[in-house]
Amino acid sequence: MEKTIWPGSTQLAPSPVVLVGTGDGRRFPWNLLTVAWAGTVCSDPPMVGIGVRKSRFSYRALKELRCFTVNLPTAEMAEAVDFCGVASGADTDKFAARQLTAAKANKIVAPLVAECPLSLECAVRQVVELGSHDLFLGEVIAVQVGPGRDNTTEHAVVYFDGASSVQLVTGDRVEIRKAENDARIVRINQDSFLETLRRKMSAI
Ligand SMILES: Cc1cc2nc3c(=O)[nH]c(=O)nc-3n(C[C@H](O)[C@H](O)[C@H](O)COP(=O)(O)O)c2cc1C
Repeated sequence: MEKTIWPGSTQLAPSPVVLVGTGDGRRFPWNLLTVAWAGTVCSDPPMVGIGVRKSRFSYRALKELRCFTVNLPTAEMAEAVDFCGVASGADTDKFAARQLTAAKANKIVAPLVAECPLSLECAVRQVVELGSHDLFLGEVIAVQVGPGRDNTTEHAVVYFDGASSVQLVTGDRVEIRKAENDARIVRINQDSFLETLRRKMSAI
């Protein structure tokens, strides 16, 4: 296969998008942050990494409380995921704004999202300053799985396409149109995920 050389850039897409829960509900309010730079980085101990900019409201809570949750959203939550990626916990209670339920974690002070089928409770083991983002390496010390949802594959559905705030849901393309103080899913078509990617690649 003939390949073209591009300058180094963040091209590993699509990547799953998660809702990261931060805060302790006291010194730092319980808050949610949408994160696309997230992934499993070690099996034993089980660890995940999330890349977070220092400018995020969530950053101080992550740094000082040294814990976070990783919540896997469902397709129905795509608009809320987008919202949590544009609104800030500095002036908005994102749980209340999108009728999401903050639930207590088992082992840490950061909140879970009750509506998400899978939540990982993570204790921060290392913070690595990389440049634009700091990498928070969290050991997964507990996992909460919703009833009947022991296989999460079909629920791992919200993706970042690497180019815009458009999020892709497995099998479908979701577009989120923003009006003033309002954002909603306005169109879900049946384009296959691969077709969407192919179109994107041919447009580059
Ligand atoms: C699809 C999507 C993915 C995002 N991924 C990240 C990410 O990986 N790291 C990050 O620092 N911000 C990311 N953001 C931006 C934050 O979620 C956003 O700035 C948010 O408002 C921060 O919330 P906070 O101020 O309450 O911490 C993403 C936003 C969207 C919409």
